[in-house]
Amino acid sequence: MRASIADIATHVGRQVTLHGWLHARRSSGKIHFLIVRDGTGFIQAVMSKAAVGDEAFLRADHLSQETSLSVTGAVRADARARGGYEIDVTSLEVHGDSHDYPITPKEHGVDYLLDRRHLWIRSERQTAILRVRHEVISAVRDFFNGRGFILCDTPIFTPAACEGTTTLFPVQYFEDTTAYLTQSGQLYNEANAMALGKVYCFGPTFRAEKSKTRRHLTEFWMVEPEMAYADLHDVIELAEGLLTSVVARVLETRRPELQILERDTSKLERVTAPFPRLTYDEAARRLAEKGQPFEYGTDLGGSDETVLSEQFDRPVCVTHYPAAVKAFYMKADPRQPDKALCVDVLAPEGYGEIIGGGQREDDLQRLEQRIRAHNLPPQAFEWYLDLRRYGSVPHGGFGMGIERCVSWICGLEHVRETIPYPRMLYRLYP
Ligand code: 4AD
Ligand code: MG
Repeated sequence: MRASIADIATHVGRQVTLHGWLHARRSSGKIHFLIVRDGTGFIQAVMSKAAVGDEAFLRADHLSQETSLSVTGAVRADARARGGYEIDVTSLEVHGDSHDYPITPKEHGVDYLLDRRHLWIRSERQTAILRVRHEVISAVRDFFNGRGFILCDTPIFTPAACEGTTTLFPVQYFEDTTAYLTQSGQLYNEANAMALGKVYCFGPTFRAEKSKTRRHLTEFWMVEPEMAYADLHDVIELAEGLLTSVVARVLETRRPELQILERDTSKLERVTAPFPRLTYDEAARRLAEKGQPFEYGTDLGGSDETVLSEQFDRPVCVTHYPAAVKAFYMKADPRQPDKALCVDVLAPEGYGEIIGGGQREDDLQRLEQRIRAHNLPPQAFEWYLDLRRYGSVPHGGFGMGIERCVSWICGLEHVRETIPYPRMLYRLYP
């Protein structure tokens, strides 16, 4: 009977066949210990000369790392075994050889591994991360679908910038047009929210970021909800609800993966609402107290976010940044017009911004002014201004970067391990 390692516990005492790859082999005179992986997990298959006969035993003597094979044998519970179970092999079939597999158990440098990312993703650690990523994405979808949000896809080829003109990727669009890869689906989300009330988009976004930091990719996945008839407060509550529910889901279903990653899960257990809220001014004061060289009036930099988010045991919401450092679409606070009704959610343990969003400028004249002040091409935004011409309402939303979220939940050093094929300043291969 065909089985997978993930549900091996349901097959104790029975003969099963596993289809997978050889991860590692250790042999004593009369026994081969084969660590087999099948994509769902790792298990030790014990092959004794007595059980399989001399000939089959001898053939297994040369099996090397990543040989594809099927093993058949009885499942046995063993408290000492990795995962709690072992297989006593009765027969083994080899499908494809593997010679000189380049990723051995010894330490490799990260560039070496990234050059072989298509193989690196087979490792136990990488498969654990990719499973957590899957769970995060699945929890995000369930969260919005369960709250009446309509998934409404936004285009990837776009005519203009959403998040500043310095990080656009131009694409030749037929003979004489330049398109740009989307930086965010937000502007279309706003139109979709006026049609459907509560919407979200979830897709790849692109930023020509020349920065080589542990938080930046040039291609990343972002989920963006947008709500009509909503203010900054509603946006913050939604962000809080999303993060608590995503973290709770990963804790509920992905403990084994978090254990492989040696994640301190007590830190994740503290991620419950309400999250602390700070204004930009309060954040600036905290930075000054910590002796962080921060210039009031500028955007928070990566190291400022690190210093702030180290001070809290759960995500912190920073609101009311100076309007001048934020995107053109942000609504100014009527009580202090130099501040924007915006929020950045900083993940704890120094991870920094994982969510950015806020309330949108819903007044036609003020929005036109902002477009001019940012030197954006007005024709490209005519359709967007229509939303303020025909039944404008207060509205808002946010974007959460999946890779930053996964990086934090897994406790990783760098976002590059959270996506199967990271795209960065110097990395377009494989
Ligand atoms: O703060 P950002 O730029 O906000 C927007 O794009 C808004 N239009 C979203 C909205 O309100 N609908 O980006 C949102 C999030 C960041 O908080 C971060 O998690 C992620 O996207 N992000 C990146 N992730 C990886 N690499 C990059 N270069 C990223 N830039 C942003
Ligand atoms: Mg941001």
